[in-house]
Amino acid sequence: MTKVVESVAEMRALVTDARKTGKSIGFVPTMGALHEGHLVLMREAKKICDVVVVSIFVNPTQFGPNEDFDAYPRTWTEDLAACRSVGVDAVFHPLARELYPEGWGTWVEVAGVTDKLCGKSRPTHFRGVATVVTKLFNIVQPDKAFFGQKDAQQVIVLKKMVRDLNMFSEIVMVPIVRDADGLAKSSRNAYLSQEQRQAALVLSQSLCKAREMANSGERDIKAIKAAVMNHIQSVSLANVDYVEIYSFPGLAEMDILDQDALLAIAVRFGSTRLIDNVILTPKST
Ligand code: PAF
Repeated sequence: MTKVVESVAEMRALVTDARKTGKSIGFVPTMGALHEGHLVLMREAKKICDVVVVSIFVNPTQFGPNEDFDAYPRTWTEDLAACRSVGVDAVFHPLARELYPEGWGTWVEVAGVTDKLCGKSRPTHFRGVATVVTKLFNIVQPDKAFFGQKDAQQVIVLKKMVRDLNMFSEIVMVPIVRDADGLAKSSRNAYLSQEQRQAALVLSQSLCKAREMANSGERDIKAIKAAVMNHIQSVSLANVDYVEIYSFPGLAEMDILDQDALLAIAVRFGSTRLIDNVILTPKST
């Protein structure tokens, strides 16, 4: 039976009770508009933890002034049914005033890994993510929290936050879930026209190309980036925001692929901005 919880007090009571009986808590924070990628996170949490909590909250503080906060898909009925189908124990669905009460004014800023990739084009985004995830962790007190690799930078930022602030919870990264044709699952795919969705296949195709280059021994980061960029730019509907390669998980600059690296891309199709990534491993010699 999946319980719907709207208040912080009730959520705290539920996890306190679970802890009293020695149960571990798994947590999947989401903004709703749930898709198969989220369901995989929930199933993973269920495998490892005794009690699974999912939060559904479209967090206003992680959207910039001209971003899609108002338009972001809100599909509560379907989302709750999806959580029930997986058998999660509780869905935390707070109102904005419950998390951001009158007079609220405390931010969590993670330095060093938030000024590049998505942090460059969305300068206030990770401050909003780190702040809301801290609040949710304080309420749910999870042993483990599950996040998708599609938002790889988010995972890196949150792992650093947990380490820097001596937080109790462990961040678990779960591999990207894709449609059969390769498009990474995303709540924002719902914005795409049929033509844009077809064009967006260039994302996973260009990442595959890069992985093939790395597997066949290419070590020149500039050459890999250029190949990805050219491939994406060959599609007229694609508008590149960035194509970047940094060390993984440190996000340091690199010229030669001599350690694991994150190849991350962000591309606009009309007004919809999609991200995708792959972790490149140097060919062993
Ligand atoms: O990945 C998301 O959906 C959001 O950034 C998160 C982690 C739920 C915080 O609002």
